[in-house]
Amino acid sequence: MNMHVQAAEAAVSISNLSKTYDTGFEALKNVSLDIRKGEIFALLGPNGAGKTTLIGTVCGLVNPTSGQILVGGHDVVADFRKSRALIGLVPQELTGDRFETVWATVSFTRGLFGKPRNDAVIEKILKDLSLWDKRNEKLITLSGGMKRRVLIAKALSHEPEILFLDEPTAGVDVELRRDMWRVVRELRERGVTIILTTHYIEEAEEMADRIGVISKGEIILVEEKTELMTKLGKKDLTIQLQEPIATLPATLTAIGLRLNGDGTELIHTYDSQADRTGIATLMAAVSAEGLSVKDLSTSQSSLEDIFIGLLRDRA
Ligand SMILES: Nc1ncnc2c1ncn2[C@@H]1O[C@H](COP(=O)(O)OP(=O)(O)OP(=O)(O)O)[C@@H](O)[C@H]1O
Ligand SMILES: [Mg+2]
Repeated sequence: MNMHVQAAEAAVSISNLSKTYDTGFEALKNVSLDIRKGEIFALLGPNGAGKTTLIGTVCGLVNPTSGQILVGGHDVVADFRKSRALIGLVPQELTGDRFETVWATVSFTRGLFGKPRNDAVIEKILKDLSLWDKRNEKLITLSGGMKRRVLIAKALSHEPEILFLDEPTAGVDVELRRDMWRVVRELRERGVTIILTTHYIEEAEEMADRIGVISKGEIILVEEKTELMTKLGKKDLTIQLQEPIATLPATLTAIGLRLNGDGTELIHTYDSQADRTGIATLMAAVSAEGLSVKDLSTSQSSLEDIFIGLLRDRA
């Protein structure tokens, strides 16, 4: 695929973006990143890495110091209204017009983006987010979790093509998290592009098509989730023994086996990309020690292990 086609297909195209705040702090350093139409992209990174700043520049809330951002082909600075109309943003921080009702605030937000009134759309959004019963209540009376639902409803009110979710599930209960991921999956099925930041790596693992990792204002990795997991992942081969053993024979330690806590399993960790011819040797050594094997299984390291390893390597 040539570069031109790729650029045309991108929902968001970020090139050489840098942001230095007035304090002199360099929050983004020469970031280039394309978000594909229709994908779920998870941006992972520790506190202060620049995730919210990056989202802010794309949504026109933070002025870039240099570089360019196109949303649906529109420059976010020169063509702010057109680019912003394509975007829904669920911000990390709760803010808001506290004396409005739920219905009014969500419906009004749709109007702000120049979309004609559509009560059916607002009704569906409120129902999807279990806010329908609260539609006539003032925001100030709602709990934190309910307010967060309202933020999501507002972000969806103008039926955006691109949705940013900045730490959407930080501090929310299980029910809201479930509602949210159901809504996100539905949106994705309708072709909406979704970019989320999260500290819950299991969430990225479950939801994302691609993962980007940001650290100290730099994108240090962008990869298909499945690729990332096979490339960087380790696998554990677990050999379950018929009978527990008290100590591991030296010959088995020598070839990289470990014994689990209750002596019932031998574990061997290997690179998931490496070939597996070593396994026959392992099994032969196990049987040479007179141990009978009950079962064999392999398991892959989680994204969390990969992520922690990656940041540690750069520290
Ligand atoms: N308005 C600002 N002025 C000066 N520095 C800022 C400003 N906003 C953010 N920063 C700094 O820029 C860096 C990146 O902040 P940002 O909020 O983008 O990080 P983040 O990755 O979203 O972190 P978190 O996971 O805590 O939400 C931080 O060091 C922060 O202190
Ligand atoms: Mg943030």
